[in-house]
Amino acid sequence: MDKNHAKALEDLVKSGPNLPSEINLRDPTLYHNALFAQMYDSSQPPVWDSLCEELAEEAAITANDIVADLGCGSGRLTRYLQTKNPKKLYAIEPSTAMLKILKERLDTQKITIVLGSIDELIQSGVERPNKILSSGVFSVVTDPETLLRKVYSYLPQEGIYLFTVEDWRNANVDGEPTEMFNERFRAALKEIGMATNAPVIKANQETYTKEEVERCIQNAGGMVLKHRVKEMIHSGECAIAMLSSLLEGAAADQLPKIKGIQDIAKQFYAGKKITSGIQHTFVTTQKDLEAK
Ligand SMILES: C[S@@+](CC[C@H](N)C(=O)[O-])C[C@H]1O[C@@H](n2cnc3c(N)ncnc32)[C@H](O)[C@@H]1O
Repeated sequence: MDKNHAKALEDLVKSGPNLPSEINLRDPTLYHNALFAQMYDSSQPPVWDSLCEELAEEAAITANDIVADLGCGSGRLTRYLQTKNPKKLYAIEPSTAMLKILKERLDTQKITIVLGSIDELIQSGVERPNKILSSGVFSVVTDPETLLRKVYSYLPQEGIYLFTVEDWRNANVDGEPTEMFNERFRAALKEIGMATNAPVIKANQETYTKEEVERCIQNAGGMVLKHRVKEMIHSGECAIAMLSSLLEGAAADQLPKIKGIQDIAKQFYAGKKITSGIQHTFVTTQKDLEAK
C-alpha cells in the first residue's frame, strides 16, 4: 500500500472527515470523492472481481473487437477485458479520482482513457466500439434511459451493450437485513468507544426490478438478447479479512484499538453468509437496425 493510500484510509478510520455522514452508493457524486474512491477500490469483496470476470467472459471478445468499459471506475472490469486482447480497449469514467487509481493499477499503454461518459466517448472521435460494457453503473447514473438511448444510437449494427444492475433491497447477513445487522455492529463498536462518527453505508436499497430495466431498454431503442441474475455472496471471514486489512493498512500505530474492532468483527461475522443483494446482467443490442 502506498503512502497516500495509507493516509487516505487512516483518515477514514479517524471518523471519515471528508466523507458524507451517510454513504449512498447510488449517488454518482460520491465516486468523485478521492477518499471514497480509495475505499471503494480497496474494500470490494472478491465476489465483485469474479462478477467482473464473468462479465468479460460473457462478452466473448475476439481480436477484432473494439471494446469500451463505460463507467470503468478504478478498472476492475477493464483489467479482465484487457486480458482478452481486444483490438482496442477504451476506459470511460467521469471521476478523475477513480481514473487515478486505474492508471496506477493497469498498464495503460494499450488503453484509451476518456474522462466523462458516453457523450465524451462519442465526441472523442475514436473508432466506434462494437462492444460496450458497464459494470455497476446502471443503478448509479441519474438517468439510465438517456444513457442507454445514446449507447444504442452510437453502437454499430450488431454491436452489443452488456451491463449489470445491482439491487440491494434483499441484502442480508444470514437472513438478517444488512441495515439491522450494521446497526447492531455499530452499537457494539460504540460500546468500546470506536467508530462512532464513521459514515453509515446505506444498505437494503431498492434500485430497479428486471421489468423496469427491460422497459427502460425498450424505451431507449434496445432489446434484450440475454438476461441472467445472480446473488452477490461472500463469507463472514472475507468481511473480517477486508476490515482487518483496511484497519491495519490505515493505522498500524493504533493496534490496540484495531484489535478491539477486529474482536467485535469476529463475533459478528465469523461463519456468516453475507448476501449483498442480486445482480442482473443484460446483454442487449439496438432494436431498430433500419433506423441507423
Ligand atoms: C459502482 S461504480 C462501478 C465502477 C466499476 N465499473 C466497477 O465495476 O468497479 C459506478 C461508476 O459509475 C460511474 N458513473 C456515474 N455516473 C456515470 C455516467 N453518467 N456515465 C458513466 N459512468 C458513470 C461512477 O463514477 C463510478 O465509477
